[in-house]
Amino acid sequence: MKLIRTEDYTEMSLEAGKIIVEKIRSNPAITLGMATGSTPKGTYDYLIHDHKSNGTSYREVKTVNLDEYIGLPAEDSNSYHYFMRENLFQHLEISEDLTHIPNGTAPDLKLECQRYEQLIKDLGGVDLQILGIGQNGHIGFNEPGTPFSSRTHIVTLAQDTREANSRFFNSINEVPTHAITMGIATILESKEILLLISGENKAEALLKFMNGEISEDFPASALKNHHQVTVIADRAACKFI
Ligand code: GLP
Repeated sequence: MKLIRTEDYTEMSLEAGKIIVEKIRSNPAITLGMATGSTPKGTYDYLIHDHKSNGTSYREVKTVNLDEYIGLPAEDSNSYHYFMRENLFQHLEISEDLTHIPNGTAPDLKLECQRYEQLIKDLGGVDLQILGIGQNGHIGFNEPGTPFSSRTHIVTLAQDTREANSRFFNSINEVPTHAITMGIATILESKEILLLISGENKAEALLKFMNGEISEDFPASALKNHHQVTVIADRAACKFI
């Protein structure tokens, strides 16, 4: 595992953005695994800036997102479909057919999980997976206790995750109780992983990740079983390491 320490969020985003652009340039038909949340937003801004000023092409790039809330249609401003469209896709001239996000309003959610797993397989797997981390160590929406053998599945969101994410909603009651997420095994099959960690509120999670044991109680610890992980963390997140 490689750890890149950066001064702040801006530098973390820049470093991550540069790595992603380099990968796209060496493999223009790359399959990228995308994350949502505040953490990757700056990285996405970098990709947009680079696309506009350097012309990096997304014509053949394919994307698969980690997760989506159950019950929120794509038009809902809190859905991850909306997040990705607003914060990235609409600025990149990327064809909608090549961007994939689990459908949280599918009539048969179990079938949707199977479809998503198959889709990732059909794409030949994820080449580079971008990840954030929850304060409780969740990756995607894999909450503590999720088996490392899990594939794309339906989760009940932990109360602290709903509280953390309620900042985007009018009230916590509006935060969905369930989500679809790639499983830990799905994530670990990515050829390469880029884990982004920013801010003091993630410092304990980073400490646990670096020094703690590998345990299903702390989902991100599964990444230690992967041989191509780069962690980019800013100074605030590195407070305890
Ligand atoms: C959400 C997402 C995760 C994300 C995490 C941290 O629940 N499902 O993919 O990594 O929370 O979010 P943030 O980057 O906003 O702190």
